[in-house]
Parts: sequence; C-alpha cells; structure tokens
Amino acid sequence: AKVSLTGIKPTGDPHLGNLVGAIRPALQLAEEYDSLYFIADYHALTTVRDPELLRHYSRSVAATWMAAGLDPKRTTFYVQSDVPEIFELTWALSCITGKGLMNRAHAYKAARDRNLEAGEDPDAGVNMGLFNYPILMAVDILIMESDVVPVGRDQVQHVEYAADIAGSFNHLYGRSYEFKIPQAIIPPGETGHTLPGLDGRKMSKSYDNTIPLFLQENQLKKLVRRIPTDSTPVEAPKDPDSSAPFLILESFAPPSASGLVADTRKRLEEGGMGWGELKNVLFEVLNTELAPLRERYDELMRPGSELDSFLADGAERARARASRVLSSVRKAIGIAR
Ligand code: TYM
Repeated sequence: AKVSLTGIKPTGDPHLGNLVGAIRPALQLAEEYDSLYFIADYHALTTVRDPELLRHYSRSVAATWMAAGLDPKRTTFYVQSDVPEIFELTWALSCITGKGLMNRAHAYKAARDRNLEAGEDPDAGVNMGLFNYPILMAVDILIMESDVVPVGRDQVQHVEYAADIAGSFNHLYGRSYEFKIPQAIIPPGETGHTLPGLDGRKMSKSYDNTIPLFLQENQLKKLVRRIPTDSTPVEAPKDPDSSAPFLILESFAPPSASGLVADTRKRLEEGGMGWGELKNVLFEVLNTELAPLRERYDELMRPGSELDSFLADGAERARARASRVLSSVRKAIGIAR
C-alpha cells in the first residue's frame, strides 16, 4: 500500500479546529494507506521553552489522536524524538540543501519581514531551529518513504521543499539510492470554509479564540454562548452560511446528525429559530460527541496509561523503517564503511 504520513506540533492543547481540520481527515486516510502519525516534539522546541509544558503538550496531543480514533495497531504512531535516525539524516540532507531555499521558506521570511518593518535586525529573535525547520520536516517525510502528506495549506510549501530536497539527493546519489517524491494532500474540508472561532475569525491558537476539545460540560456551554451572532430577531429569516455557530455545527456534526443539521438550516432560513436555540443545538451535539472522547482522553492522560506502551511500540516500528533508509543513504553518500 502507499504510505501516508503526517505530523502535529505539540504547542498547545488541541481544539475543535484541529479535530475537524486535521485529525479527522488524516485518520480517514488510514482506510486506504499504510498510515503513519507522529508528534513533532523537536519542531515544537523552536517555540516552547518550558520543559514541563512541552512534556504535557506532547502527551496531550498523543492522547487526543487516540481518543479521536487513531488505532495504534493498524497504524504507526510515534514521537519524533524517539527516532534518532531522523537527526542523522537531517545533517546529511542539510549538506546538500541550498541556504537560498531556506531563505525563502514562509515562516522564516515572515519573521524577517516583520523585523525589517519594525526597523530591527532582520534576524532578531530567529533561532537556527526555525531556519532549519523545513529540513527536519523534509526528513520526517522522506525517511519514512511517504507517498502522500495530508496537511493544511500552511504546510504545503514544506512538503514541496521535501520533494525538492529529495530531487537534489536523487540527482546526486540516485544510482545508489532514490528517495520517493512526496506529495501534499489537503483535506477536502479546508477548501470550503475553515472552522470559525469564538470571535468569528478562523479558529486558531494564535488568535486565542479556540474551543478546546476537553472542557467540562458547563465550561463548554459557556464558550458556546460566547460565539458571536448578530441581532436578527427570532422570527426573522437568517443566513446559516454566515453564522459562526451554524458553520461549527455543520463541520463538526457526525453523519448520523445530518438530518438535524439539514433541519436546523431550514428553520434558520425560514425564520422562527433564534440564535439562542441554535446554540443549544450546537452545545448538545458537541457535548454528545465529545463526552466519550473526553473520557478516553482522561484515561490515556493518567501516568502509566497504555499510551506509553503504544508509543513505545510505534517508535520501534518507525525506527525499523527509518534505519533501513538511513543505512542505504549512508552507503550512497560514502559514510558507511
Ligand atoms: P501544526 O502542528 O501547526 O498543525 C498540524 C496540522 O494541522 C493543520 N492545521 C489546520 N488545518 C485546517 N484548519 C486549521 N485552522 C488548521 N490549523 C492547523 C496544519 O496544516 C497541519 O497539517 N510543521 C507541521 C508539523 C510537522 C509535519 C511534519 C507535518 C512536522 N513534520 C511532517 C507533516 C509532515 C506543523 O507545524 O503543523
């Protein structure tokens, strides 16, 4: 089977946008692909400086993927830092990657542009981890011989860089070993509307407008009430497609609730359903769906839970794959005796 791989950075507690935009569509691919999922903890290190917090986020993101339905027996699920082969290959591929390519990477360029605009040294606050980030990510992808990489739009350039770097390697050493050329795939949901957050903008950690996945019921209810709506009266017809609570309902609701969603749309369009009632519907759907996930998440977060043995098993299988590729590369480049 073809190989699908995706990574997620443990930089915060997972929210509804992560589940709908990234986790669910990536899990879907396990039906069709030999699927790998990993926690990119060394990528998170470019920004997270609190060791306890990094440990917590790594565990919390892993528990979330499992609570959302990842099956660690059918897929390969691991933590990036458990696969040291990745770091050895990162050096080897750094030596054949042009600095100019890295200069043009979006995240680095954005930091530079911000500094220039502020009249500061262009590299102020930029660490070498941020600069080398795309090479480490290319290695994540190439060392597992990935065919496809499901990511959001913001990560597409990184996958293109991985393809570029693989091309350079193949050009130089292809007689001895060839990397597969990976391709990004963007989940279907993302080409439509992105999930709005509590202020109506795209739900994102950086806007501080998220609905975290594992809230207590009363906190969840409170947050749902805070989603902005306009002052259209109860009886008036409303446009569901410009209503944040409706858009969240529509993207989140499971197939079994599609009748409820269609019915809600109709009642909004015809008038007679107020925003308060819509929010009650949304809360009920969220709470019903999330309650079993929350329970599983809490179980997995307990110290010594089965999460540890699943990740250890995943790491072993990931390393077996990675070391096969690494030893071919070592031969190809003249490092192995
Ligand atoms: P990260 O951790 O920022 O995001 C994880 C994934 O979620 C997608 N995403 C979204 N998709 C839709 N709507 C949103 N609002 C939204 N916010 C985030 C991201 O595009 C991503 O797919 N560099 C990567 C992690 C990484 C990786 C890899 C990914 C490291 N190595 C190898 C794939 C393959 C990152 O920072 O993702």
